[in-house]
Amino acid sequence: MDSVITYIKSNFNSYVEELKEYIRIPSVSTTASYKNDVLRCADFVAEKLRTSGMTHVEIFPTEGYPLVYGEWLGQPGKPTVLIYGHYDVQPADPLELWTSDPFEPVIRDGKIWARGSDDNKGQNFIHIKAVEAFFKTKGTLPVNVKFILEGEEENGSESITKFIGKNRELLSCDAVLISDTSMYGPGIPTITYAVRGLLYMEVEVIGPDKDLHSGSFGGAVANPINELARIISQLHDKNGKVTIPNFYKKVQVISKAEKENFKRLKFSDKKYSKEIGVKELYGEKGYTTLERLWTRPTLDCNGIYGGFTEEGAKTVLPSKAAAKISMRLVPDQNPVQIAKDFIKHIKSLTPKTIKVNIKNMHHGLAAVVPFGSKALDAAATAGSKAFGKKTVFTREGGSIPIVVDFMNNLKAPVVMMGFGLDSDDIHSPNEHFHLENFEKGLYASAYFLDEFSKL
Ligand code: BES
Ligand code: MN
Repeated sequence: MDSVITYIKSNFNSYVEELKEYIRIPSVSTTASYKNDVLRCADFVAEKLRTSGMTHVEIFPTEGYPLVYGEWLGQPGKPTVLIYGHYDVQPADPLELWTSDPFEPVIRDGKIWARGSDDNKGQNFIHIKAVEAFFKTKGTLPVNVKFILEGEEENGSESITKFIGKNRELLSCDAVLISDTSMYGPGIPTITYAVRGLLYMEVEVIGPDKDLHSGSFGGAVANPINELARIISQLHDKNGKVTIPNFYKKVQVISKAEKENFKRLKFSDKKYSKEIGVKELYGEKGYTTLERLWTRPTLDCNGIYGGFTEEGAKTVLPSKAAAKISMRLVPDQNPVQIAKDFIKHIKSLTPKTIKVNIKNMHHGLAAVVPFGSKALDAAATAGSKAFGKKTVFTREGGSIPIVVDFMNNLKAPVVMMGFGLDSDDIHSPNEHFHLENFEKGLYASAYFLDEFSKL
């Protein structure tokens, strides 16, 4: 292994340069105007897989964005790992809050700053380059490797979900490896064994059929923004619980053993609130912060709009208002059922004075990965070797909807070994990725392939 690690060290700077090229492609999947860039990014990834040494690389078109597949199956008898990642990114806005151009990566303070630097380009590029380093030093890989990269993760993963169901043979493997999560703290190798699910809804309320003068009409006509705000304010009770009927019905209670594990992680509310710049934390009564983040479902407004929001003051009673509302879900909540309950609940809160349209934008299930798989052990060992510390096991508040589909369709353990930090500002302005984690991630990926081959 020493030769592989040495090779990675001496080529690290060129990996950073290549990552910059990857990041310069603004592959924002949720915004239609970036379509050509997302497509261009798929080609870029395919080319990188080819030069990494994958022998069969294919771009599979879908109804949405293409899937990029690559494989090298030169070790019959050895296990196969399927490495998943996503080449699409979140929108960069609000642009004015970025210190440097979101799609022109710069290196500052040992970090690479740009949209996608962590989530997920930096993280998936790790595996592409680790594989390449193996080929360059040994001419072979210790295990069989398949890659699948999608371009719709930040927008619901619809196409890959369909694809997995129809291509079980192509994707068959002994483990799925995903680097799209965070480490518990700087320098701490981390395996994430659970992600929350997600249900994303849009609620539009409509009052008068056009904007009206707020003096001539205000007081006589219901204001859609006022009414929407009233509806939203009723979605939580005074204990921070979501008021949708049956919302908590299927929620699993966590075991004592897990609670103990959380305690061992020594989470500090004080440090956490300081890091994110809030005076005090807030959440569902009766639970610790880690429990709230990792094991409890939530409901949040992601955006609210309507009426006049430009500079100056315009007296207007708006015709419409809308909110984007998401719910993070936990096992065994069913997003389809909850969407129905949500719609019913919103309708029951809507006064006769306004119309309401409710849309389910996308949803995905929560996942908990069972302990005790050889792949998980191999990853824990690999992480420890790379970072020189014991690997810890965490859950995650965020979502990777495809995890459950991999588990159900491929019957293989899913290993989530991420190299980001919660402070990397993914989805926020000034996203960045620590070069140290990029480098140690490369080691961890190489060690994983080696450890996995020993099983
Ligand atoms: N990389 C994230 C998942 C994640 C979030 C990991 C936070 C660690 C910390 C992933 O790309 C993501 O953002 N997923 C979306 C999924 C959604 C759009 C279906 C999310 O969690 O919002
Ligand atoms: Mn991601």
